[in-house]
Amino acid sequence: VDNTASAIAHTNIALIKYWGKANEKLTIPYTGSISLTLDKFYTKTKVTFDSQLHADKLFVNGTEQTNLKKAARVLNRVRQLADTNSFAKIESENFVPTSAGFASSASAFAALAGASAAAAGLELDKPALSRLARLGSGSASRSIFGDFVEWLPGDNDENSFAQPLENVTLTDIAVVAVKVNAHQKTISSSEGMKSSAQTSPYYAEWQNVVNRDIVNLKHALTTNNFSLFGQISEANAMRMHALTLSSLPPFTYFEPGTLEVINEVQDLRAQGIECYYTIDAGPNVKILTQTANIPLIKDQLSKQFSPTKISVAHPGPGIEVIKH
Ligand code: DP6
Repeated sequence: VDNTASAIAHTNIALIKYWGKANEKLTIPYTGSISLTLDKFYTKTKVTFDSQLHADKLFVNGTEQTNLKKAARVLNRVRQLADTNSFAKIESENFVPTSAGFASSASAFAALAGASAAAAGLELDKPALSRLARLGSGSASRSIFGDFVEWLPGDNDENSFAQPLENVTLTDIAVVAVKVNAHQKTISSSEGMKSSAQTSPYYAEWQNVVNRDIVNLKHALTTNNFSLFGQISEANAMRMHALTLSSLPPFTYFEPGTLEVINEVQDLRAQGIECYYTIDAGPNVKILTQTANIPLIKDQLSKQFSPTKISVAHPGPGIEVIKH
């Protein structure tokens, strides 16, 4: 059928974090960021533009959603570019195991961008798709591409998009995700980063930190230096979380289980098993390691965590658009 297209996009984990918007409406970040797109965890989205509809309709895993605010930013831009008034029916399925504890917004808005642009008959290149995905959620701009990706912050709608990192020689990477039981109501990343940018006295220095960490992480990636890669990623994650702790009012995404996993990683390192951790806007921990260490890490974690809470991922592909 015309007017229908689907897209598959994978989730990504930030190694140098995006945490703060210079422009909220356009999702222009204060700093750049670097991520790794992962295999296994993805969103598949089908979009149909239909002149009979009176409003956009969004179904996630078969359930109709009432909050279409972020999706509308993507769809309105597509309508503007394609010069149409038609509303869209969006059917989205998340293939993100609940055991993994990954947020789905990066894969969801990347898939929405790819599917809605194709359904409207637009032929957008990857940078344009990245800009479109960015309007839905900042981290989604990076899920257009596979493997290691850098989001160039830019300062307007045209120059803020992601691109693949070049000359990467560090290819043996594995991510062991540990899901921690969450009991608190969490602060969304949009709200959290806004509070940090406005109230943390460390926010100005965070921007310098990120600029340095980006240069150093690129060096680690292009010289196949896993130790340096892990140290920089871990430190950058903790510096982001220091922004939440230093906000007014202070907040944290950490839970007791988060600290337990951090301790396990430090234990593993003391045993000579090389691994590091990173944490996004939630309590779950992603352990960064190399393939040979996976069995040892799983073994150690299984003493404290059920195997159903542990999942392993590797570098994954960029977006795939399917025309119907
Ligand atoms: C901690 O992309 O979810 O995961 O742009 O407001 O939708 P919005 O935020 P979002 O924030 C991601 C924050 C992070 C770090 C990162 O992915 O870079």
